[in-house]
Amino acid sequence: MLKELRESTPTVVVDGGDLFWKSRVIRDRDLAQRQLKAQTQAKLLAQQGMDAMVPGEGDLALGISEYVALTQDMPVLAGNLVCGEQTWPLTRVVRAGGQKVGVIGVTGEIHPDCTLSQDPIDAVKAGVEQLGSSVDVVLVIGHVGHSFADHAGAVPGVDFVLEGESGSARKNPIRKDEGAWQLGSGKRGKTLGVLTLSFVKGASGWMDQASAVGIEERLEQRSDRLEEAREGLATCSEEDRGKYEARVDYFTQEVAEAEADLAAARASDGALSHLFLNKLVELEASIGEDDAVLAELEALTLAIDSMPAQVASSPPRIGPYVGAESCRGCHTDAYTQWKTTPHAAAYTSLEKERKQLDNSCFGCHVTGAFHPEGPQYANEVGHLKNVGCESCHGPGKEHVAGPKAGQMTAEPREASCVQCHDGVQDNGDFDLETYWAKVVHTSAEKP
Ligand code: HEC
Ligand code: HEC
Ligand code: HEC
Ligand code: HEC
Repeated sequence: MLKELRESTPTVVVDGGDLFWKSRVIRDRDLAQRQLKAQTQAKLLAQQGMDAMVPGEGDLALGISEYVALTQDMPVLAGNLVCGEQTWPLTRVVRAGGQKVGVIGVTGEIHPDCTLSQDPIDAVKAGVEQLGSSVDVVLVIGHVGHSFADHAGAVPGVDFVLEGESGSARKNPIRKDEGAWQLGSGKRGKTLGVLTLSFVKGASGWMDQASAVGIEERLEQRSDRLEEAREGLATCSEEDRGKYEARVDYFTQEVAEAEADLAAARASDGALSHLFLNKLVELEASIGEDDAVLAELEALTLAIDSMPAQVASSPPRIGPYVGAESCRGCHTDAYTQWKTTPHAAAYTSLEKERKQLDNSCFGCHVTGAFHPEGPQYANEVGHLKNVGCESCHGPGKEHVAGPKAGQMTAEPREASCVQCHDGVQDNGDFDLETYWAKVVHTSAEKP
């Protein structure tokens, strides 16, 4: 996607943080796998050319020195962040298509070992000063939090603000009190925000091309109707006169309103504005089409497969779970029915994609994951592969040892389903009624 853009038009690529990981927390034993993934991502992005980026808490959770190493070929901006000896520049000027794009990068408190040398908004002000008047457009990228975009947008000289912490997805940029335009390209790398800038000679300020074009179109259309009404008035019969007069009045007013709207949409001094057009591009379909990218991803899968921490035979952590085979003998009908559901092959789906050792995948494709005594990591699953009986009925160790009524959850509820059918990983496909009907076994069955 980035490659295509770069080939077709002068492009500046920026990121608002949490590029490599999404939260402050990475469990110790996950770190190596996370770092490996981040390295692949960093390599691919560096190849495409990153023009400016700010760190987020997820990025620094990988380790500050790891982040510095990852981004050695990428221009990180974080002018108000101090992590021990490590500091980053506040601004950068990127040249694209004959224009100079000034970028200011600031963060909030994103790591316990780092401090802020300056309040983010003060840093933005300093950034505007540093860039001076030599740049054609000023973009702030910040990883600070929700109200940041409002405040940074109010700093004179700022044209656009991209805030990465809030993760808002904005097809149409918004602005507060004539401040800078606020962008948002969503979370989890699912969408790419593409902002196209058209510099207009002699213009100042920016306006949404979608809206400007809309007003111009309205003006043109209303002017045509006014023209028609005037012609009608000039040629009509005496009895139609009143009707045409009313139309002329009506469209005269409409044209005046459209003209006023257009004037307001243009800069206040009457000069033209530069135009921008924003869109959000869904990345799912286009991802992985590139051979070089595919090769890197394949290498990553191989690397994860062969990580010592992964293949090393970690003893299974099955806790109070026993696995579906242990239930088979006494609950044959339920077992037979369960075997026909995709739950019984959920682990196979992971193996087909060679993702069974990926710590971010196994949890919903096995039984008992993240129970305090159950598997915490992909290599601790043992024979708890697949979404077994105990995923819905609860752990069965005690029950199997001395079966009695009341030990197991007799009628699992929707709540147990949506732990895994979480609306995100399953693309929101879960529909209780249709899904329920596919997994229940006859309640008449008794051991
Ligand atoms: C431990 C996680 C987990 C729980 C709990 C869970 N599921 Fe699933 N479910 C999965 C996974 C993973 C798949 C995909 C299996 C595959 O094809 O690899 C799946 C698939 C399904 C399917 C098949 C969908 C299709 O594409 O045809 C249905 C139906 C379903 N689940 C219903 C339910 C219902 C109803 C519940 C609650 C009573 C539930 N599941 C609880 C993880 C879970
Ligand atoms: C939050 C729980 C969860 C996590 C984490 C998860 N999955 Fe799933 N996965 C599901 C559920 C639920 C389904 C069933 C979706 C449906 O059919 O409605 C599913 C379905 C699938 C399927 C489809 C099976 C098929 O052929 O229809 C594959 C493949 C899969 N997951 C792979 C993965 C991979 C790879 C990862 C890690 C990147 C992953 N899953 C992480 C819950 C999860
Ligand atoms: C040795 C035989 C045996 C084994 C093995 C066994 N069960 Fe049971 N199960 C029973 C008996 C007996 C009952 C009680 C039936 C009753 O009195 O209604 C029962 C009841 C249940 C109930 C209904 C709960 C209730 O309180 O009404 C569920 C659900 C259940 N078992 C699930 C499982 C699961 C899951 C496994 C495997 C982890 C399993 N059972 C293994 C014999 C067994
Ligand atoms: C996806 C969730 C899910 C899985 C997996 C699952 N069950 Fe169930 N089970 C249910 C639900 C929901 C009910 C209650 C509705 C019904 O009676 O079918 C139920 C009912 C039961 C009952 C009857 C309880 C009663 O009222 O007497 C037994 C026994 C049982 N399951 C055993 C099993 C066994 C054994 C397995 C594994 C081979 C299994 N279940 C796998 C969801 C599940």
